[in-house]
Amino acid sequence: MTLKLFKNAHVFTPRTGPAPAAGAAQGEIFEIADGCLLVENGRIAALGERREVEEKRGGRAVEMEIDLDGAPVIPGFVDPHTHACFAALREEEFSMRLAGKPYLEILKAGGGILSSVRSVRAASGDELFRFSKALLDATLRYGTTTIEIKSGYGLDTENELKLLDVIDRLGRETPQSVVPTFMGAHAVPEEYGTKPDAYVKLLRDEMLPAVVKQGVARFCDIFCEEGVFSVPESRAILEKARELGLKLKIHADEVNDLGGAVLAGELRAASAEHLLAASDAGIAALAGGGVVAVLLPATAYSLKKPFARARAMIERGVPVALATDLNPGSCFCRSMPFVFSLAVLGMNMTPEEALTGATLNAAWAIGMEKEAGSLEPGKLADFVVLDGRSPAALAYASGSRPIRSVWKTGEKMA
Ligand code: NIG
Ligand code: FE
Repeated sequence: MTLKLFKNAHVFTPRTGPAPAAGAAQGEIFEIADGCLLVENGRIAALGERREVEEKRGGRAVEMEIDLDGAPVIPGFVDPHTHACFAALREEEFSMRLAGKPYLEILKAGGGILSSVRSVRAASGDELFRFSKALLDATLRYGTTTIEIKSGYGLDTENELKLLDVIDRLGRETPQSVVPTFMGAHAVPEEYGTKPDAYVKLLRDEMLPAVVKQGVARFCDIFCEEGVFSVPESRAILEKARELGLKLKIHADEVNDLGGAVLAGELRAASAEHLLAASDAGIAALAGGGVVAVLLPATAYSLKKPFARARAMIERGVPVALATDLNPGSCFCRSMPFVFSLAVLGMNMTPEEALTGATLNAAWAIGMEKEAGSLEPGKLADFVVLDGRSPAALAYASGSRPIRSVWKTGEKMA
Protein backbone atom coordinates (compact mmCIF):
# COMPACT_ATOMS: atom_id res chain seq x y z
CA MET A 1 0.00 0.00 0.00
CA THR A 2 1.61 3.29 -1.04
CA LEU A 3 0.20 6.68 -0.27
CA LYS A 4 1.33 9.97 -1.84
CA LEU A 5 0.08 13.47 -1.19
CA PHE A 6 0.26 16.22 -3.80
CA LYS A 7 -0.47 19.65 -2.36
CA ASN A 8 -0.72 23.22 -3.66
CA ALA A 9 -2.26 22.03 -6.92
CA HIS A 10 -4.41 24.33 -9.06
CA VAL A 11 -6.66 21.59 -10.43
CA PHE A 12 -8.54 21.89 -13.74
CA THR A 13 -10.60 18.87 -14.78
CA PRO A 14 -13.74 17.80 -16.61
CA ARG A 15 -16.01 15.46 -14.65
CA THR A 16 -17.41 12.18 -15.94
CA GLY A 17 -21.12 12.19 -16.72
CA PRO A 18 -23.31 9.43 -18.13
CA ALA A 19 -22.18 10.20 -21.71
CA PRO A 20 -19.37 12.07 -23.50
CA ALA A 21 -19.50 15.83 -22.85
CA ALA A 22 -21.48 17.48 -25.66
CA GLY A 23 -22.62 21.02 -26.40
CA ALA A 24 -22.20 23.42 -23.47
CA ALA A 25 -20.98 20.56 -21.24
CA GLN A 26 -17.86 20.28 -23.41
CA GLY A 27 -16.72 23.61 -21.95
CA GLU A 28 -17.43 22.78 -18.29
CA ILE A 29 -14.18 22.51 -16.36
CA PHE A 30 -14.06 22.23 -12.57
CA GLU A 31 -11.39 24.18 -10.80
CA ILE A 32 -9.91 23.81 -7.33
CA ALA A 33 -7.60 26.73 -6.59
CA ASP A 34 -5.73 25.28 -3.63
CA GLY A 35 -6.17 21.58 -4.24
CA CYS A 36 -4.73 18.42 -2.82
CA LEU A 37 -4.56 14.98 -4.38
CA LEU A 38 -4.19 11.82 -2.37
CA VAL A 39 -2.88 8.91 -4.43
CA GLU A 40 -3.18 5.36 -3.18
CA ASN A 41 -1.62 2.52 -5.16
CA GLY A 42 -1.55 4.56 -8.35
CA ARG A 43 -5.17 5.71 -8.19
CA ILE A 44 -6.78 8.90 -6.95
CA ALA A 45 -8.08 8.23 -3.44
CA ALA A 46 -9.20 11.80 -2.74
CA LEU A 47 -9.17 15.16 -4.47
CA GLY A 48 -10.29 18.54 -3.16
CA GLU A 49 -9.45 21.23 -0.64
CA ARG A 50 -6.70 20.36 1.80
CA ARG A 51 -9.04 19.77 4.79
CA GLU A 52 -11.28 17.28 2.93
CA VAL A 53 -8.30 15.36 1.63
CA GLU A 54 -6.62 15.26 5.05
CA GLU A 55 -9.85 13.78 6.42
CA LYS A 56 -9.70 10.98 3.84
CA ARG A 57 -6.05 10.43 4.70
CA GLY A 58 -7.06 9.90 8.33
CA GLY A 59 -3.58 10.43 9.77
CA ARG A 60 -1.99 7.64 7.69
CA ALA A 61 1.70 8.11 6.89
CA VAL A 62 2.48 9.12 3.31
CA GLU A 63 5.47 7.81 1.41
CA MET A 64 5.93 11.13 -0.39
CA GLU A 65 4.56 14.65 -0.03
CA ILE A 66 4.94 16.74 -3.18
CA ASP A 67 4.41 20.50 -3.28
CA LEU A 68 3.21 21.56 -6.75
CA ASP A 69 3.71 25.23 -6.03
CA GLY A 70 0.28 26.37 -7.19
CA ALA A 71 0.86 25.18 -10.77
CA PRO A 72 -2.09 24.09 -12.95
CA VAL A 73 -2.73 20.35 -12.85
CA ILE A 74 -4.78 18.71 -15.62
CA PRO A 75 -5.61 15.06 -16.37
CA GLY A 76 -2.97 13.24 -18.42
CA PHE A 77 -3.70 13.56 -22.12
CA VAL A 78 -5.60 10.72 -23.75
CA ASP A 79 -4.59 10.39 -27.41
CA PRO A 80 -7.47 8.43 -28.98
CA HIS A 81 -6.17 8.07 -32.54
CA THR A 82 -2.65 7.02 -33.53
CA HIS A 83 -0.94 4.70 -35.98
CA ALA A 84 2.13 4.61 -33.73
CA CYS A 85 3.28 1.08 -34.57
CA PHE A 86 5.46 1.11 -37.68
CA ALA A 87 9.03 0.43 -38.75
CA ALA A 88 10.26 3.46 -40.72
CA LEU A 89 9.62 7.15 -41.31
CA ARG A 90 8.53 8.54 -44.72
CA GLU A 91 10.24 11.91 -44.83
CA GLU A 92 10.94 11.66 -48.57
CA GLU A 93 7.20 11.40 -49.15
CA PHE A 94 6.69 14.58 -47.13
CA SER A 95 8.97 16.34 -49.61
CA MET A 96 6.82 15.00 -52.47
CA ARG A 97 3.73 16.43 -50.78
CA LEU A 98 5.47 19.77 -50.32
CA ALA A 99 6.25 19.73 -54.03
CA GLY A 100 2.52 19.42 -54.73
CA LYS A 101 1.79 15.69 -55.03
CA PRO A 102 -1.50 14.91 -53.22
CA TYR A 103 -1.55 12.38 -50.37
CA LEU A 104 -4.04 10.05 -52.10
CA GLU A 105 -2.03 10.15 -55.38
CA ILE A 106 1.06 8.94 -53.52
CA LEU A 107 -0.98 6.03 -52.14
CA LYS A 108 -2.40 5.22 -55.58
CA ALA A 109 1.13 5.02 -56.96
CA GLY A 110 2.06 2.35 -54.39
CA GLY A 111 3.62 4.72 -51.84
CA GLY A 112 2.12 6.15 -48.67
CA ILE A 113 0.51 3.53 -46.44
CA LEU A 114 1.69 0.82 -48.86
CA SER A 115 5.32 1.77 -48.38
CA SER A 116 4.87 1.44 -44.60
CA VAL A 117 3.33 -1.98 -45.25
CA ARG A 118 6.53 -3.09 -47.01
CA SER A 119 8.79 -2.01 -44.12
CA VAL A 120 6.47 -3.48 -41.47
CA ARG A 121 6.27 -6.83 -43.24
CA ALA A 122 10.09 -6.93 -43.37
CA ALA A 123 10.49 -6.06 -39.67
CA SER A 124 10.56 -8.48 -36.75
CA GLY A 125 8.28 -8.01 -33.75
CA ASP A 126 11.30 -6.90 -31.68
CA GLU A 127 12.31 -4.28 -34.25
CA LEU A 128 8.77 -2.94 -34.38
CA PHE A 129 8.64 -2.84 -30.60
CA ARG A 130 11.87 -0.86 -30.27
CA PHE A 131 10.90 1.66 -32.95
CA SER A 132 7.41 2.19 -31.56
CA LYS A 133 8.55 2.37 -27.95
CA ALA A 134 10.73 5.37 -28.82
CA LEU A 135 7.67 7.07 -30.32
CA LEU A 136 5.61 6.35 -27.22
CA ASP A 137 8.36 7.67 -24.94
CA ALA A 138 8.23 10.96 -26.85
CA THR A 139 4.44 11.21 -26.51
CA LEU A 140 4.77 10.58 -22.76
CA ARG A 141 7.13 13.55 -22.40
CA TYR A 142 4.39 15.64 -24.03
CA GLY A 143 1.90 14.46 -21.40
CA THR A 144 0.12 11.55 -23.09
CA THR A 145 -0.60 8.94 -20.43
CA THR A 146 -3.19 6.90 -22.37
CA ILE A 147 -2.91 6.16 -26.08
CA GLU A 148 -4.84 4.25 -28.72
CA ILE A 149 -2.73 2.51 -31.38
CA LYS A 150 -4.10 1.09 -34.62
CA SER A 151 -2.66 -1.77 -36.63
CA GLY A 152 -3.04 -1.36 -40.39
CA TYR A 153 0.46 -1.56 -41.85
CA GLY A 154 0.41 -5.37 -42.12
CA LEU A 155 -2.61 -5.88 -44.40
CA ASP A 156 -2.45 -9.67 -44.25
CA THR A 157 -3.44 -11.95 -41.41
CA GLU A 158 0.06 -12.79 -40.22
CA ASN A 159 1.37 -9.22 -40.22
CA GLU A 160 -1.77 -7.66 -38.72
CA LEU A 161 -1.56 -10.18 -35.85
CA LYS A 162 2.16 -9.35 -35.52
CA LEU A 163 1.35 -5.63 -35.18
CA LEU A 164 -1.42 -6.25 -32.64
CA ASP A 165 0.95 -8.44 -30.67
CA VAL A 166 3.50 -5.62 -30.55
CA ILE A 167 0.80 -3.11 -29.58
CA ASP A 168 -0.25 -5.43 -26.76
CA ARG A 169 3.39 -5.70 -25.64
CA LEU A 170 3.72 -1.88 -25.70
CA GLY A 171 0.78 -1.77 -23.29
CA ARG A 172 2.44 -4.25 -20.94
CA GLU A 173 6.03 -3.03 -21.12
CA THR A 174 5.72 0.76 -21.26
CA PRO A 175 4.19 3.04 -18.61
CA GLN A 176 1.29 4.26 -20.76
CA SER A 177 -2.16 2.67 -20.93
CA VAL A 178 -2.51 1.40 -24.51
CA VAL A 179 -5.78 0.65 -26.32
CA PRO A 180 -5.34 -1.55 -29.43
CA THR A 181 -7.46 -1.14 -32.57
CA PHE A 182 -7.50 -3.47 -35.58
CA MET A 183 -7.29 -1.54 -38.85
CA GLY A 184 -6.73 -4.22 -41.47
CA ALA A 185 -8.98 -2.07 -43.68
CA HIS A 186 -6.40 0.75 -43.87
CA ALA A 187 -5.72 0.24 -47.61
CA VAL A 188 -6.09 -2.49 -50.20
CA PRO A 189 -2.70 -4.27 -50.22
CA GLU A 190 -0.70 -4.40 -53.46
CA GLU A 191 -1.28 -8.13 -54.01
CA TYR A 192 -5.06 -7.42 -54.06
CA GLY A 193 -4.71 -4.17 -56.01
CA THR A 194 -7.05 -5.18 -58.82
CA LYS A 195 -9.44 -7.22 -56.67
CA PRO A 196 -10.54 -5.16 -53.66
CA ASP A 197 -13.63 -7.41 -53.26
CA ALA A 198 -11.37 -10.36 -52.56
CA TYR A 199 -9.58 -8.34 -49.84
CA VAL A 200 -12.90 -7.35 -48.24
CA LYS A 201 -13.80 -11.03 -48.23
CA LEU A 202 -10.45 -11.92 -46.62
CA LEU A 203 -11.05 -9.25 -43.97
CA ARG A 204 -14.51 -10.60 -43.15
CA ASP A 205 -13.88 -14.33 -43.39
CA GLU A 206 -10.30 -14.72 -42.18
CA MET A 207 -8.67 -11.64 -40.67
CA LEU A 208 -11.46 -10.48 -38.36
CA PRO A 209 -12.08 -13.95 -36.87
CA ALA A 210 -8.29 -14.40 -36.37
CA VAL A 211 -8.01 -10.98 -34.70
CA VAL A 212 -10.91 -11.75 -32.36
CA LYS A 213 -9.38 -15.13 -31.52
CA GLN A 214 -6.06 -13.39 -30.70
CA GLY A 215 -8.02 -11.26 -28.20
CA VAL A 216 -5.92 -8.06 -28.29
CA ALA A 217 -7.97 -5.56 -30.35
CA ARG A 218 -10.87 -3.77 -28.69
CA PHE A 219 -11.96 -1.72 -31.74
CA CYS A 220 -12.14 -2.13 -35.51
CA ASP A 221 -11.40 0.92 -37.67
CA ILE A 222 -11.58 1.44 -41.45
CA PHE A 223 -10.34 4.05 -43.95
CA CYS A 224 -13.58 5.01 -45.72
CA GLU A 225 -12.26 7.18 -48.56
CA GLU A 226 -12.28 7.59 -52.32
CA GLY A 227 -9.98 4.96 -53.84
CA VAL A 228 -9.71 3.10 -50.51
CA PHE A 229 -12.92 1.59 -49.01
CA SER A 230 -16.37 2.67 -50.18
CA VAL A 231 -19.34 3.17 -47.85
CA PRO A 232 -20.90 -0.25 -48.71
CA GLU A 233 -17.53 -1.98 -48.21
CA SER A 234 -17.01 -0.15 -44.93
CA ARG A 235 -20.48 -1.13 -43.77
CA ALA A 236 -19.91 -4.79 -44.64
CA ILE A 237 -16.61 -4.92 -42.73
CA LEU A 238 -17.81 -2.99 -39.69
CA GLU A 239 -21.02 -5.02 -39.38
CA LYS A 240 -18.96 -8.20 -39.31
CA ALA A 241 -16.59 -6.66 -36.72
CA ARG A 242 -19.52 -5.77 -34.52
CA GLU A 243 -21.03 -9.22 -34.87
CA LEU A 244 -17.72 -10.63 -33.60
CA GLY A 245 -17.75 -8.32 -30.56
CA LEU A 246 -15.46 -5.43 -31.58
CA LYS A 247 -16.46 -1.80 -31.08
CA LEU A 248 -16.42 0.45 -34.13
CA LYS A 249 -14.44 3.43 -35.39
CA ILE A 250 -14.34 5.02 -38.87
CA HIS A 251 -11.80 7.24 -40.63
CA ALA A 252 -14.59 9.30 -42.16
CA ASP A 253 -14.59 12.13 -44.70
CA GLU A 254 -10.86 12.87 -44.25
CA VAL A 255 -10.19 14.04 -47.79
CA ASN A 256 -13.54 13.63 -49.59
CA ASP A 257 -17.09 13.59 -48.21
CA LEU A 258 -18.10 10.02 -49.08
CA GLY A 259 -20.73 9.83 -46.36
CA GLY A 260 -18.52 8.17 -43.75
CA ALA A 261 -19.94 10.32 -40.94
CA VAL A 262 -23.48 9.38 -41.97
CA LEU A 263 -22.45 5.72 -41.83
CA ALA A 264 -20.86 6.23 -38.38
CA GLY A 265 -24.14 7.70 -37.10
CA GLU A 266 -26.16 4.90 -38.64
CA LEU A 267 -23.94 2.21 -37.06
CA ARG A 268 -23.72 4.14 -33.76
CA ALA A 269 -19.95 3.78 -33.91
CA ALA A 270 -17.95 4.78 -30.83
CA SER A 271 -16.23 7.44 -32.91
CA ALA A 272 -15.79 8.96 -36.35
CA GLU A 273 -12.37 10.40 -37.02
CA HIS A 274 -10.85 13.22 -39.16
CA LEU A 275 -14.11 14.63 -40.63
CA LEU A 276 -12.32 17.46 -42.51
CA ALA A 277 -14.90 17.24 -45.31
CA ALA A 278 -17.94 16.14 -43.24
CA SER A 279 -21.23 17.57 -44.50
CA ASP A 280 -24.05 19.06 -42.40
CA ALA A 281 -25.91 15.76 -42.84
CA GLY A 282 -22.83 13.95 -41.55
CA ILE A 283 -22.62 16.19 -38.48
CA ALA A 284 -26.34 15.69 -37.79
CA ALA A 285 -25.88 11.91 -38.06
CA LEU A 286 -23.02 12.00 -35.53
CA ALA A 287 -25.19 13.96 -33.07
CA GLY A 288 -28.10 11.57 -33.62
CA GLY A 289 -25.96 8.46 -33.13
CA GLY A 290 -24.11 9.68 -30.03
CA VAL A 291 -20.81 9.32 -31.92
CA VAL A 292 -17.67 11.07 -30.64
CA ALA A 293 -16.00 13.17 -33.35
CA VAL A 294 -12.25 12.61 -33.04
CA LEU A 295 -10.61 15.63 -34.67
CA LEU A 296 -6.98 15.65 -35.79
CA PRO A 297 -6.03 19.26 -36.50
CA ALA A 298 -2.32 18.44 -36.81
CA THR A 299 -3.20 16.25 -39.82
CA ALA A 300 -5.15 19.05 -41.49
CA TYR A 301 -2.15 21.31 -40.81
CA SER A 302 0.32 18.81 -42.22
CA LEU A 303 -1.86 18.10 -45.30
CA LYS A 304 -2.41 21.88 -45.70
CA LYS A 305 -6.19 21.40 -45.65
CA PRO A 306 -8.89 23.44 -43.88
CA PHE A 307 -9.56 22.32 -40.31
CA ALA A 308 -12.61 20.26 -39.36
CA ARG A 309 -15.66 22.31 -38.36
CA ALA A 310 -15.34 21.87 -34.60
CA ARG A 311 -17.63 24.79 -33.76
CA ALA A 312 -20.47 23.47 -35.91
CA MET A 313 -20.07 20.07 -34.28
CA ILE A 314 -20.12 21.43 -30.72
CA GLU A 315 -23.09 23.68 -31.51
CA ARG A 316 -25.03 20.73 -32.91
CA GLY A 317 -24.33 18.58 -29.85
CA VAL A 318 -21.55 16.33 -31.16
CA PRO A 319 -18.97 15.51 -28.45
CA VAL A 320 -15.54 16.44 -29.80
CA ALA A 321 -12.27 14.70 -28.92
CA LEU A 322 -8.75 15.60 -30.03
CA ALA A 323 -5.90 13.34 -31.15
CA THR A 324 -2.50 13.48 -32.85
CA ASP A 325 -2.99 10.83 -35.60
CA LEU A 326 0.72 10.05 -35.06
CA ASN A 327 1.75 8.18 -38.22
CA PRO A 328 4.67 8.21 -40.68
CA GLY A 329 2.69 9.77 -43.54
CA SER A 330 -0.09 12.31 -43.19
CA CYS A 331 1.00 13.57 -39.77
CA PHE A 332 4.13 12.76 -37.79
CA CYS A 333 3.01 14.56 -34.63
CA ARG A 334 3.81 13.32 -31.11
CA SER A 335 2.58 16.36 -29.21
CA MET A 336 -0.88 16.72 -27.70
CA PRO A 337 0.02 20.31 -26.61
CA PHE A 338 0.52 21.15 -30.30
CA VAL A 339 -2.87 19.58 -31.14
CA PHE A 340 -4.41 21.56 -28.27
CA SER A 341 -3.03 24.83 -29.61
CA LEU A 342 -4.30 24.09 -33.14
CA ALA A 343 -7.74 23.27 -31.69
CA VAL A 344 -7.87 26.64 -29.96
CA LEU A 345 -6.16 28.85 -32.53
CA GLY A 346 -7.20 27.01 -35.71
CA MET A 347 -10.61 25.50 -34.89
CA ASN A 348 -11.77 28.18 -32.44
CA MET A 349 -12.44 25.81 -29.58
CA THR A 350 -12.16 27.42 -26.14
CA PRO A 351 -9.30 26.16 -23.94
CA GLU A 352 -11.94 24.50 -21.73
CA GLU A 353 -13.50 22.69 -24.71
CA ALA A 354 -10.07 21.65 -25.92
CA LEU A 355 -9.17 20.32 -22.47
CA THR A 356 -12.30 18.15 -22.38
CA GLY A 357 -11.51 17.06 -25.96
CA ALA A 358 -7.95 16.03 -25.13
CA THR A 359 -8.89 14.17 -21.96
CA LEU A 360 -12.43 13.05 -21.05
CA ASN A 361 -14.06 12.88 -24.51
CA ALA A 362 -10.90 11.22 -25.82
CA ALA A 363 -11.24 8.60 -23.09
CA TRP A 364 -14.87 7.99 -24.10
CA ALA A 365 -13.79 7.52 -27.72
CA ILE A 366 -11.62 4.56 -26.70
CA GLY A 367 -13.72 3.07 -23.89
CA MET A 368 -11.39 4.34 -21.14
CA GLU A 369 -13.78 6.77 -19.45
CA LYS A 370 -13.85 4.77 -16.22
CA GLU A 371 -10.04 4.77 -15.90
CA ALA A 372 -8.76 8.00 -17.40
CA GLY A 373 -9.69 11.40 -18.83
CA SER A 374 -10.46 13.27 -15.60
CA LEU A 375 -9.17 13.74 -12.08
CA GLU A 376 -11.74 11.97 -9.93
CA PRO A 377 -11.51 9.48 -7.06
CA GLY A 378 -11.12 5.92 -8.33
CA LYS A 379 -9.45 6.86 -11.60
CA LEU A 380 -5.76 6.39 -12.41
CA ALA A 381 -3.52 9.09 -10.94
CA ASP A 382 -2.43 10.29 -14.39
CA PHE A 383 -1.81 14.02 -14.60
CA VAL A 384 0.24 16.78 -16.14
CA VAL A 385 1.59 19.79 -14.24
CA LEU A 386 1.65 22.81 -16.52
CA ASP A 387 4.07 25.68 -16.80
CA GLY A 388 1.68 28.65 -16.83
CA ARG A 389 -1.42 29.82 -15.01
CA SER A 390 -4.21 27.79 -16.63
CA PRO A 391 -4.79 25.20 -19.41
CA ALA A 392 -4.82 28.13 -21.87
CA ALA A 393 -1.01 28.08 -21.46
CA LEU A 394 -1.01 25.08 -23.81
CA ALA A 395 -2.18 27.34 -26.66
CA TYR A 396 -0.55 30.54 -25.41
CA ALA A 397 2.88 28.89 -25.43
CA SER A 398 2.19 27.33 -28.84
CA GLY A 399 5.03 25.33 -30.32
CA SER A 400 6.85 24.90 -27.03
CA ARG A 401 6.36 22.44 -24.19
CA PRO A 402 4.65 24.28 -21.34
CA ILE A 403 4.89 21.26 -19.07
CA ARG A 404 6.63 21.02 -15.70
CA SER A 405 6.08 17.34 -15.08
CA VAL A 406 4.10 14.29 -16.22
CA TRP A 407 2.76 11.70 -13.76
CA LYS A 408 1.44 8.22 -14.58
CA THR A 409 -0.27 6.23 -11.80
CA GLY A 410 1.32 8.62 -9.33
CA GLU A 411 4.88 8.08 -10.64
CA LYS A 412 6.92 10.87 -12.18
CA MET A 413 7.62 10.12 -15.85
CA ALA A 414 9.05 13.38 -17.17
O1 NIG B 1 -5.21 8.89 -40.40
N1 NIG B 1 -5.96 8.13 -43.38
C1 NIG B 1 -5.44 7.08 -43.17
N2 NIG B 1 -4.53 6.80 -42.25
C2 NIG B 1 -3.67 7.75 -41.64
C3 NIG B 1 -2.44 7.96 -42.41
C4 NIG B 1 -1.59 6.77 -42.47
C5 NIG B 1 -0.34 6.93 -43.26
O2 NIG B 1 -0.22 7.84 -44.12
O3 NIG B 1 0.55 6.12 -43.01
C6 NIG B 1 -4.42 9.00 -41.30
O4 NIG B 1 -4.22 10.06 -41.89
FE1 FE C 1 -5.56 8.01 -38.85
